[in-house]
Amino acid sequence: MFAPVSILAIAATVASAVVIRAPADTSVTILNNCSYQVDPAFFPVVTENGASTGGFPLAAGASQAVTLPANYSGRIWGRTGCDSAGQCTTGTCPGGESCIDPAPTGPTLAQITLDGYAGYDYFNPTSGDNFNIPLTIIPGSGCSTAPVSCTDANGDGNGCGATNSCPTGTTYTIQFC
Ligand SMILES: *[C@@H]1O[C@H](CO)[C@@H](O)[C@H](O)[C@H]1NC(C)=O
Ligand SMILES: *[C@@H]1O[C@H](CO)[C@@H](O)[C@H](O)[C@H]1NC(C)=O
Repeated sequence: MFAPVSILAIAATVASAVVIRAPADTSVTILNNCSYQVDPAFFPVVTENGASTGGFPLAAGASQAVTLPANYSGRIWGRTGCDSAGQCTTGTCPGGESCIDPAPTGPTLAQITLDGYAGYDYFNPTSGDNFNIPLTIIPGSGCSTAPVSCTDANGDGNGCGATNSCPTGTTYTIQFC
C-alpha cells in the first residue's frame, strides 16, 4: 500500500533535479478605503486579469488584485477626481486612464522593488514628491513587518519615506485612505 521509502527518495531526487526555479510574480491587492473613487496607477505597468495595465478606476470600498512581474521596481499611486478619459485632479499621468509614465504632479507614492537584494523585497510609502491621499502598504502572511503608512503632507504615519523589507514571495495590500 505504501511505496518503499527508497523509491520516494529517488523520485524526490529526480523531481528536484528537473525543477527550474523561475522567480515568482507577486500578487498585490489594491484596496480603496476612501469614500470616493480612486484610480490606482502603476509605473511601470502591471497585470490585471491577464492584461497589462497602467491604471484603472476603483470605486469607494472596492479592491482589485494585480500581478507584479518578479523583477518589478516601480511606483503605485492613487489618482483622485478622474474623468472618463483618465484626466484627474491629483496624480494624473501621461497616457490617460492607463499611465505610460509617472505622474508629474506628485501624488503619495508606494515605491516597491521586488527581490531587490538578498531575497528581500523593499518598499515604502512616501510623500517625498508631494501628498494627495493617505497610503498604507500591508504585507501579507510570511512577513512580520507591520503595515507602513503615510497619512498626510507633514510626512506623518509610521513609514513615510522609510524603507521596509519582506522576504520575496510575500503578497501585499496597498490601501488608499
Ligand atoms: C478606512 O477609512 C476610515 C475613515 O474613512 C478609517 O476610520 C478606517 O480606519 C480605515 N480602515 C482601515 C482598515 O484603515
Ligand atoms: C523584467 O522582465 C521582463 C520580462 O522578462 C523584461 O521584459 C524586462 O525588461 C525586465 N525588466 C527589468 C527592469 O529587468
